[in-house]
Amino acid sequence: MSKLLVKGGSSLNGEVRIKGAKNAILPILAATVLTEEECVIRDVPHLTDIANMLRIIEGLGAKCLVEQDVITVKNDDLTSHNVPTDLAKELRSSFFLLGPILGRMRRAVVAYPGGCDIGVRPLDIHLKGLREMGIAIEESHGMIYCDGGRLKGADVALDFPSVGATENLMMAAVLAKGTTRITNAAKEPEIVDLQNFLNAMGAKVSGAGSGRITVEGVPKMHGCTYTPIPDRIVAGTLLIAGATCGGNVCITNAVPEHLEPLLFKMSKSTCVISQQSDRISLSASGRPRGFDKLETQPYPGFPTDLQSQMMVMMSVAEGTGVIVENIFETRFRIVRELTKMGAMITVKDRAAVIRGVKRLEGAAVSAGDLRGGAALVIAGVRADGYTVIDHANYIDRGYESIEKTFGALGAEIKRLE
Ligand code: UD1
Repeated sequence: MSKLLVKGGSSLNGEVRIKGAKNAILPILAATVLTEEECVIRDVPHLTDIANMLRIIEGLGAKCLVEQDVITVKNDDLTSHNVPTDLAKELRSSFFLLGPILGRMRRAVVAYPGGCDIGVRPLDIHLKGLREMGIAIEESHGMIYCDGGRLKGADVALDFPSVGATENLMMAAVLAKGTTRITNAAKEPEIVDLQNFLNAMGAKVSGAGSGRITVEGVPKMHGCTYTPIPDRIVAGTLLIAGATCGGNVCITNAVPEHLEPLLFKMSKSTCVISQQSDRISLSASGRPRGFDKLETQPYPGFPTDLQSQMMVMMSVAEGTGVIVENIFETRFRIVRELTKMGAMITVKDRAAVIRGVKRLEGAAVSAGDLRGGAALVIAGVRADGYTVIDHANYIDRGYESIEKTFGALGAEIKRLE
């Protein structure tokens, strides 16, 4: 379990280039299973979630090569349709391998997955959709057994626009016979990116981003070279850090449109934001101005993955505000840690009331999930004195060397073990 030591009190100044999005790359790696030809993915950050996904597909028989930020995958000799159980328990995204494995091999076995403990995270929407596509599913002793002998295109209406379920069904549909129409599909930019990747492999997918996705099955897919979209959550985390700690932060290789829900909120605070093609610059000084209310929603609403970071900003902002978390019910566990640092937050069910304070104090805190961990780094940089963040390995799931990224902006962060 690694620890980070953060020396507080720095403002953040400098430029950071954003790499490919973890949440786009994980389904893209899963989708490589759909072809026996070589796929090359560029601009990939070094993250433990991505390393785990590679180990999982290697367990199926994939040959993976990582050279700096380029991953080459060849699935010409898939030997297994069983997602390795020990690895699946590490990574929730292992579950959306069901779709591509079923597409390619017509059978799949996977354990109930793990991942960050940020809520109940059921799988009913995935399983209902797959059943509607003709897949016979049996659940027994924590394992899910799928027989895709009758896989076919179908009309599937999701009860909720789940990101993972939308991706799973898209990937199951590309090699199915007939047309699949997914309604109430998730609209996240990563869904559009998956569509673009699948089409680059020869699939016929349209409508991603609109909530209605159509997939016309094709008999075969082929390899491709692809650069995924930049990580909007890493970009957002750095912008929020700049607004919280003060300074001049510039991020490049960003897509401002993907960050609109955040930029809209930020524009109401005291920071000044400017955009120029793929550059977003933020300049902030003094205490930020808080918001009356922030509510997480599926895209294009405010992302749950930036909620904890905004909670830190509101903790030191002028005024009192409310955050409502509608997606993952246990994301407020960070409140206990922020309280140790002097934040004034009360929680009732899915709502947190945050009274901004002038100062936070360094403390020994513990990351409970990936985004909460990144939020604690921001809090540590903003606080007086030293903060030690335990379980920093959570942060490594989605941020490449967070200590180096923040270090490039002038923060003093050391990895202790
Ligand atoms: C993905 C992202 C995660 C992000 C989340 C919401 C990846 C790898 N992860 O997670 O970073 O926080 O989207 O934007 O892309 N649900 C059900 N039944 C299901 C599936 C989901 O009830 O079968 C519920 C979940 O418990 C949750 C909500 O739907 O309350 C959203 O989940 P979902 O969109 O599926 O998130 P993930 O794909 O797990």
